[in-house]
Amino acid sequence: MDKIIICGGNKLKGEVTISGAKNSALPILFSTLLTDEPVTITNVPPLADINTTVSFLNFIGKTVVKKGNTITARTLDKHKQYKHTAPYDLVRKIRASVLIMGPLLARLKRVDMSLPGGCAIGARPIDIHLNAFKKLGAEISVEGGYVKTFTKDRLQGAVINFRFPSVGATENILLAAVLAKGKTTINNAAREPEIGDLANVLNKMGGKITGAGTNKIAIDGVDKLYGFTHEVIPDRIEAATYIIAAAITKGEVILKKVIPQHLKFVTDKLIKCGLFIKETENTILAKWVKNLKPQSIKTEVYPGFPTDIQAQWMALMCLISGHTYIQENVFENRFLHVAELQRFGADITIDGKTVDIKGVEKFSGAPVMVSDLRAGAALVLAGLAADGKTTVSRIYHLDRGYAVFEKKLKKLGAKIKRIHNK
Ligand code: EPZ
Repeated sequence: MDKIIICGGNKLKGEVTISGAKNSALPILFSTLLTDEPVTITNVPPLADINTTVSFLNFIGKTVVKKGNTITARTLDKHKQYKHTAPYDLVRKIRASVLIMGPLLARLKRVDMSLPGGCAIGARPIDIHLNAFKKLGAEISVEGGYVKTFTKDRLQGAVINFRFPSVGATENILLAAVLAKGKTTINNAAREPEIGDLANVLNKMGGKITGAGTNKIAIDGVDKLYGFTHEVIPDRIEAATYIIAAAITKGEVILKKVIPQHLKFVTDKLIKCGLFIKETENTILAKWVKNLKPQSIKTEVYPGFPTDIQAQWMALMCLISGHTYIQENVFENRFLHVAELQRFGADITIDGKTVDIKGVEKFSGAPVMVSDLRAGAALVLAGLAADGKTTVSRIYHLDRGYAVFEKKLKKLGAKIKRIHNK
């Protein structure tokens, strides 16, 4: 398996162009099942998860083709029918596969999906999705590791109250209710920018969705959806990762093709730490100008501090003198990077869902192993700041969510390379 080798100590300097958002491109890809007309999606990030989803859609019967950062689907052949079964070997590869349910329920009135199973950061249940589908009129049974969902008639609009503002469940219900009969209201909906991007696509297709980005979304069901062209929004998590990379290496980085508002909570916190940040409409300059001060955080749903930046934030706080507390409130097991950061010399104590970090002078390079996508990013950032050599293994996790990570970092002056191991 490939590894990344880093010789730490270089200050990052230069410009980086942020790629399209993985967590927006994925639900938009699933939305293509809702129309038989041609679609074009641009600014798609070159990621493993995108390739997996493209193969998944082709397995289901939707021919989508990826050329560079553009994905197209042509008119569906008249006689062609989608498969209604999503097998384990496809579903287990990425969590977003659960988004197959909404579109297939809407189009085929049935979907048999292998239970996705958990992942490194948690059990990742789908009860909120399933309870909402029941509200729309679906019958659900679990047999032989599959969740079988079926509706005799067309889905029926309903009022749905989420016990937790799940991002995936909000997306799944948008993908189902957009073609339901009547009106659906989602109360306590997720407010992430990726929800807004998906709603924009569905409205371009002829959907009638209002309130996306707020905690109350209204969907007036329509009978048919049409083709669309759409440019995916920039990846706010990738952007925040590069800003933290500038901070941890005491460098100066300009991010291009970014929407500053989408990562405001993180940049506000970094300004409180003492990082210099200057924003324009679509760029962010991040510059280390003085020793940073610790800033404790609690992860929250959007617009709070994103859980997907928790690990990267931890890496940074480990090298800032003083005490920092980080509380993880979204996932139940998202501290797998603690043990790996301790291998660099970090002083971290875990107490339930909170960690207590005591800043240390420096990190020493070490061999470390990636457990999940964002933990991997944190370990690379730590390696960039560490004295000496760091070897990062299991970097296939990184390839899922960071487009050409080591190439972009190398362009910013990092001494980093990927070695291909058979
Ligand atoms: C999305 O996951 C993102 N993935 C995650 O990004 C992100 O961390 C997460 O939202 C939170 O922002 C994609 O968009 C593909 P949730 P999702 O449903 O939809 C619990 C990354 O690094 N829950 O909001 O799965 C769940 O277990 C990934 O890019 C239920 O209990 O997140 C978790 O604890 C990691 N029942 C919490 O809610 C449900 O039915 C948040 O889950 C659904 C969720």
